[in-house]
Amino acid sequence: MTQTSIEITEPGAPEVLQATSRPVPEPAATQVLIKVAAAGINRPDVFQRMGFYPPPPGVTDIPGLEVSGTVAAVGEAVTAWAIGDQVCALLAGGGYAEYAVAEESLCLPAPDNLPLEHAAALPETCFTVWHNLFERAELKAGEWLLVHGGASGIGTTAIQMASAMGVNVIATAGNDEKCAVCEDLGATKAINYNQQDFVAACQEITGSGVNVVLDMVGGDYVQKNFAACAPRARIVNIAFLRGSKTEVDLMPLMLKQLVLTGSTLRAQPLENKARIAAGVKDQVWPLIASGQFKPIIHSSFPLAEASKGHALMETNQHIGKIILEN
Ligand SMILES: NC(=O)c1ccc[n+]([C@@H]2O[C@H](COP(=O)([O-])OP(=O)(O)OC[C@H]3O[C@@H](n4cnc5c(N)ncnc54)[C@H](OP(=O)(O)O)[C@@H]3O)[C@@H](O)[C@H]2O)c1
Repeated sequence: MTQTSIEITEPGAPEVLQATSRPVPEPAATQVLIKVAAAGINRPDVFQRMGFYPPPPGVTDIPGLEVSGTVAAVGEAVTAWAIGDQVCALLAGGGYAEYAVAEESLCLPAPDNLPLEHAAALPETCFTVWHNLFERAELKAGEWLLVHGGASGIGTTAIQMASAMGVNVIATAGNDEKCAVCEDLGATKAINYNQQDFVAACQEITGSGVNVVLDMVGGDYVQKNFAACAPRARIVNIAFLRGSKTEVDLMPLMLKQLVLTGSTLRAQPLENKARIAAGVKDQVWPLIASGQFKPIIHSSFPLAEASKGHALMETNQHIGKIILEN
């Protein structure tokens, strides 16, 4: 049986994303086959399309790190899911398609109070934010969190999740409209970095600096993050939109006893991702059920128009997530 998938015909601009016919994948023993309702677009998909973020060995070249949909078949060792269940799932690739396979341990029940399509916007950001803020940086209620890229898919997730867990949030974004959304989502203050110095603002708002930074920007932000931090703060880098190479004075790291760390989700072993999935189900899914957190959907395109979704993401005009619907 064949299906429509979106392939990257060659590294390049959004137009290299083209519809193609591929076989429907077969679920392995521990996998489920999902009839995809929607797939989330993530910035790493843009990097993959450009040729900078190849899929790990053994993973399909079809992009797409998350989907929602209905279980259409199960592998012989699957115990948690049955045909007909509505799920969303973290994938290592293959989401831009009519059907995708997912490990059963990386599927979560599609929340009852969301359209099934919107659940596609949850896995990549929820797993990333939960792991980096709460497992890696050990963020706690009452602390101050600085989120860069506050209006991004990751940022809108981090603001809501942290606020719901009793954390005080400061966000940065590139214009006033984005800042207003960050504050609506729960940030105590959002800083337009084109108009205001976020270091001075963080020090003024908190008195002694922030306790955790979630940074996707890197470049000159690395030094500024040190300055925005309180003693013993933790800084987590999940991307480097301004570059991964920069000259830094490490003195504040030592004097303030800072921790600088980072991680990438896709390359982690399955058992790590399964542990993260369990944490997300336990700690984040109740926030969705109670209405304290929901994915912010900026726009939706038909699967065949994936290139339009990528082009929009590259304008940086979107707030929240962009999804592709079947
Ligand atoms: N490590 C991991 O496991 C992991 C997992 C998922 C995503 N990520 C990374 O997390 C980031 C966000 O992902 P996403 O899917 O949420 O992307 P997204 O929605 O496209 O957001 C990217 C944001 O970055 C900001 N930005 C872009 N260029 C910038 C610059 N030069 N300086 C400051 N801000 C800039 C933009 O906001 P403004 O207009 O406000 O500047 C935009 O909102 C991406 O870099 C992605 O690669 C990492």
